[in-house]
Amino acid sequence: MREADPLARRLLFVVGKGGVGRTTIAVATALLAARRGARVLAVETDGAAALGRALVVLRSQHHPPPGIERVRHLVIEGQAALEEYLGLIIPIRRVLRAVFESGVYGAFVTAAPGLRELMTVGKIWYEVEGRAGEAEAPDFVVVDAPATGHGLQLLRMPQSAAEAFGVGLVRREAQRIVNLLRDDSRTAVLAVTTAEEMPVSETIEMLATLKRLQMPTPTVVLNQVHRSPCSEAELGVVERAAQVASGASRMLLQTAAELARTEARWAASGEHQAERLQEHVRGAIIRLPYLFSEEFGPIEQLKLTGALGDVLCPPPADVARPL
Ligand SMILES: Nc1ncnc2c1ncn2[C@@H]1O[C@H](COP(=O)(O)OP(=O)(O)OP(=O)(O)O)[C@@H](O)[C@H]1O
Ligand SMILES: [Mg+2]
Repeated sequence: MREADPLARRLLFVVGKGGVGRTTIAVATALLAARRGARVLAVETDGAAALGRALVVLRSQHHPPPGIERVRHLVIEGQAALEEYLGLIIPIRRVLRAVFESGVYGAFVTAAPGLRELMTVGKIWYEVEGRAGEAEAPDFVVVDAPATGHGLQLLRMPQSAAEAFGVGLVRREAQRIVNLLRDDSRTAVLAVTTAEEMPVSETIEMLATLKRLQMPTPTVVLNQVHRSPCSEAELGVVERAAQVASGASRMLLQTAAELARTEARWAASGEHQAERLQEHVRGAIIRLPYLFSEEFGPIEQLKLTGALGDVLCPPPADVARPL
């Protein structure tokens, strides 16, 4: 187990720039935690429901991944969470309906920036802490957070609310959420990025913001890492062979050499970005390979889950083996 094992916390936020692989990694952590026996709740916070779709596809496989029956899925939509919360504090339906229908409510929701995020993170808190004792309560909640800015807003809101309300119920509720988010024995953060200039710059900024918010130090995952398929010397051999070949063989060898060159370039520039990122990260960065496929499907998802599992949950070294 790693020093700060993100799968061993009750709550895991998977954050990162759009398109880097947050959903894929969130699914991977859900599967790994479930494989270890945890009751998992995989949460997504927007309407796209990509995480839910990925789980449906995995469940429909001929051999579904072990433990997937322990993974539940929940979409938390800020507006609905707000209405649910108001339903709890305004138990009289007639009054509640009047509130929803009033122009004041609409104006309030639009004018109060971050209210939806506050409700979303409040609901996450409830799933992690509020169900204690219930038979179905999850042991591990993974949140596929929205992309960078919006994701940070989600984590920032409880703090802003606690500061904005000096005393009273809202302050107490917000403070409870802040306490959960900052507690590294209950909460972990996994920051996903690709080894490209923009995502790495955004990640460096995001790490600084998370630190300011006093969030637990994130585990950093570099996803879609390219590897050079051969050495410079081997590449030279293919290129020389292409020069002396003719016809179809020449074309094939040239194409192979060009593809290998491109991959080598990707790998070199990725390595440069990885070094830049490492300067801002204390522990080792987890590297996951770029998987070539026409369509990223369940096979790729499971391969990537396996690669993440090799790092996060390697087989124990002290297992007794026969001599
Ligand atoms: N290691 C990988 N190798 C190849 N393709 C990958 C890898 N990881 C993710 N992908 C693919 O990259 C695309 C983006 O992945 P994913 O949807 O997980 O990212 P995301 O950060 O959740 O994106 P969004 O911001 O749209 O929610 C998907 O098509 C996914 O299948
Ligand atoms: Mg996503």
